[in-house]
Amino acid sequence: MNIGAVTLPSICSHTSHCAFPVRATASNGVTSPPNLAIEGKNLSYAITARNGKLVPILNDCSLCIPSGQLWMLLGPNGCGKSTLLKILAGLLNPTHGAVYVKRPRSFVFQNPDHQVVMPTVEGDVAFGLGKFNLTQNEVRSRVAKALHAVGMSDYLQRPVQTLSGGQKQRVAIAGALAESCKVLLLDELTTFLDESDQIGVIKAVKNSLDGSEEVTALWVTHRLEELEYADGAIYMENGKVVMHGTPSNIMGFLKERISSYTNRINS
Ligand SMILES: Nc1ncnc2c1ncn2[C@@H]1O[C@H](COP(=O)(O)OP(=O)(O)OP(=O)(O)O)[C@@H](O)[C@H]1O
Ligand SMILES: [Mg+2]
Repeated sequence: MNIGAVTLPSICSHTSHCAFPVRATASNGVTSPPNLAIEGKNLSYAITARNGKLVPILNDCSLCIPSGQLWMLLGPNGCGKSTLLKILAGLLNPTHGAVYVKRPRSFVFQNPDHQVVMPTVEGDVAFGLGKFNLTQNEVRSRVAKALHAVGMSDYLQRPVQTLSGGQKQRVAIAGALAESCKVLLLDELTTFLDESDQIGVIKAVKNSLDGSEEVTALWVTHRLEELEYADGAIYMENGKVVMHGTPSNIMGFLKERISSYTNRINS
């Protein structure tokens, strides 16, 4: 069973407060521009505190991510990255704004030990395919293709409990790929991993995207060095999208921030 990579239902998560008409999917009659996998417009999210007051968490966030690319979502602790990702996953509804995400989409959680629980790698990747009414050969072929994409072909019969954290993450990603997920939403997958496992997971994601526009990934991270694998990046602060651009633009922007902060401290 693959509980880490949750394949989410094909519902449109926009609310009646949509600032723009969310474009129809095959199931609901709206369509996204062909080159965009993720589009959020003026997204806000607030929770109601015990005293009845609204506490804003996201404030007017807009973003768009082209199909077939790996994008990173960066920002300090508590700035709203996971909340934004959950909105894109349809796990939370925005208070205002509109969101379009290609389907099926899959949310992969942070902790590798929450990812995979079937006894073998093969069983785990195949688990989510039960609902598709596939022949055994089709299941085998999808599992093999997905494991190949994440560099885990040699682990087909391995007991899941013998895998490293990074290998478990890769199996979770393979589960999502086997189900033909179009969008992978990945929340700080490398937090609990050692350095070689971190690179293995990020390369697996990159590899699963290469050569097609079929799969798009949004990767939440704290690690600036992971930017080198990205096609684009979004930087958030205090519930807002502060910058949206190429990895080198974001890197330049952050370096400038750090140096002006250091200068202020020194002076
Ligand atoms: N259900 C909730 N109730 C109260 N506050 C919440 C809730 N969900 C999120 N928050 C607050 O909203 C802010 C954004 O949280 P979020 O988890 O999205 O941040 P984050 O950028 O993912 O942080 P981190 O880098 O630590 O994972 C935080 O201050 C958090 O405490
Ligand atoms: Mg978070």
